[in-house]
Amino acid sequence: MTDSYKRLFENNRKWVETKLNEDKEYFHRLSQGQKPDFFLIGCSDSRVSPNIITGAGPGELFIHRNIANLAVHTDLNFLSALQYAVEVLQVKHVVVKGHYYCGGVRAALSDDHHGLIDNWLVNIRDVMRLHKNELESITGDEERFRRLVELNVIEQVNNVKATSVMQNAMQNENDPQVHGWVYDLNEGLLKDLEVS
Ligand code: CO
Repeated sequence: MTDSYKRLFENNRKWVETKLNEDKEYFHRLSQGQKPDFFLIGCSDSRVSPNIITGAGPGELFIHRNIANLAVHTDLNFLSALQYAVEVLQVKHVVVKGHYYCGGVRAALSDDHHGLIDNWLVNIRDVMRLHKNELESITGDEERFRRLVELNVIEQVNNVKATSVMQNAMQNENDPQVHGWVYDLNEGLLKDLEVS
């Protein structure tokens, strides 16, 4: 096995040791259940792990990740996670977390063909069409790319709000707040787009 493969298991054993030294009941307590305050929809990108960048430990974030942090109405995987988070876990916040330098958003911006994934990226092309005028008015390529990342988060927030799960939750008055965040890989900082 490669060193990078073995390292994961070595690190896991060290982490268990550290946790048990701090608190003998740590894993036992986690095994009793979860009550996270947050449901987070994030990108699969290896550089943007929500737990690492927010310092949230096990039990704090219920997470759904896919390419370019999309909330798609026909995605049974996403809808199931949302329903469980809202109706069973009763999270207080639903967060769509995008990130600058997102490869999925970059691919949607290009005219190249990428195979199967183009069917997924079509959701970002919908965002581009919705905000055509604003995006076309931006002269710099990097600046347009950054703005599309933000607009994509905003539209996914709208998609979350439009789901039957969130509509039902609103009527039951136990509706979580929906937020849009953007993470900047280049500086490590998280930004709240304040769309809630
Ligand atoms: Co990404």
